[in-house]
Amino acid sequence: MTVQELHQQGIGLFNDGKYQEAVLVFAHMLQANHTNSELWNDWSSAMAASGQIKEALQGFERALKIDPNNQQAANNLAALIQAVNTQSQPPKPSGNELLQRTGMSEEMKRNWDFVEKRELLYALVGYDFGMEPEKRLDEIREYKAKESNFLLHALKLTKDDVVLDLGSGCGFIARVAAPLCKQLYCLDISSEFLRFAQDELAQFRNVGFHRMPFGNLHFLDDKKITKGYANAVFIHFNFFDVVIYLRELYRVLAPGGLFLFGLSNTDCLDINNDRYFPLVLDNYLKERNSTTLMQWNSAHGVCSAAKQIGFEASELWIGHGSAMIMVRKP
Ligand SMILES: C[S@@+](CC[C@H](N)C(=O)[O-])C[C@H]1O[C@@H](n2cnc3c(N)ncnc32)[C@H](O)[C@@H]1O
Repeated sequence: MTVQELHQQGIGLFNDGKYQEAVLVFAHMLQANHTNSELWNDWSSAMAASGQIKEALQGFERALKIDPNNQQAANNLAALIQAVNTQSQPPKPSGNELLQRTGMSEEMKRNWDFVEKRELLYALVGYDFGMEPEKRLDEIREYKAKESNFLLHALKLTKDDVVLDLGSGCGFIARVAAPLCKQLYCLDISSEFLRFAQDELAQFRNVGFHRMPFGNLHFLDDKKITKGYANAVFIHFNFFDVVIYLRELYRVLAPGGLFLFGLSNTDCLDINNDRYFPLVLDNYLKERNSTTLMQWNSAHGVCSAAKQIGFEASELWIGHGSAMIMVRKP
């Protein structure tokens, strides 16, 4: 069999959905031709389709290292990263399209319950810290501390404040906020994220943790929350979710209480050149029900809804398809 015939055989197996067999064919060919960028792309596509995501990502990176102009590998890498980020399941592959199997149940996806620490971190920071983010926790802490600057500066926490961190994730923002306030409550829909946060914040005596059901802040009814924030949480909410959470927040905030949250903002969105929108749109076409997808809302519309609920609301910052919104309960 010639090299071309062998290659065609691999492609044929892939197109027939026989991904493991395709992997073996491409792996065999790579042994003889280890610096062929196209072959690395084919092997990685088959690996991704058979669910071996980490190796696939490394394979695509290898293809690009050998040939930085390999557009197919670049596209596949971007699509796979985005798919892993949103934990979506792309449709059945054909040709060089990718299939990613996360092995997650619908319930887990709904609740952001990624079991592996590494997957939690992927969900938190994407691939900005490489394929082994668990080895770069100090850098991630530093990055998150910088990210918290804006909201902590705007909220001006004091030692009298009882604070809510809504969607606290790994607790990287909370570890900056905790020393500044009297009491901090980390609430999250995901028990896995909460478990991580509990370890992360073990040194703080003034931090509590609570797994909340979707849209339900009853746990805070008697806590007299004076300030709160949600970092990178409302960016996953549709407009119904926003209204549900704003109503709950209105109920649990003490009079004069402040809540600050970031939003993906259609009011200043460039749908073609935004950093995230085109990729997320692509993913939405494949998996419309994924709760981990980003969602866009109008900052203007959200402020209007907040005012109808009873809040005073203002856009503290808008730009580049984002917004920071502060609401105050009179
Ligand atoms: C992108 S992470 C951000 C985590 C953290 N705020 C930060 O900035 O590092 C989103 C977090 O929101 C949580 N989350 C998502 N939807 C939620 C919901 N409906 N209610 C409460 N928490 C939610 C997720 O479990 C996850 O911990």
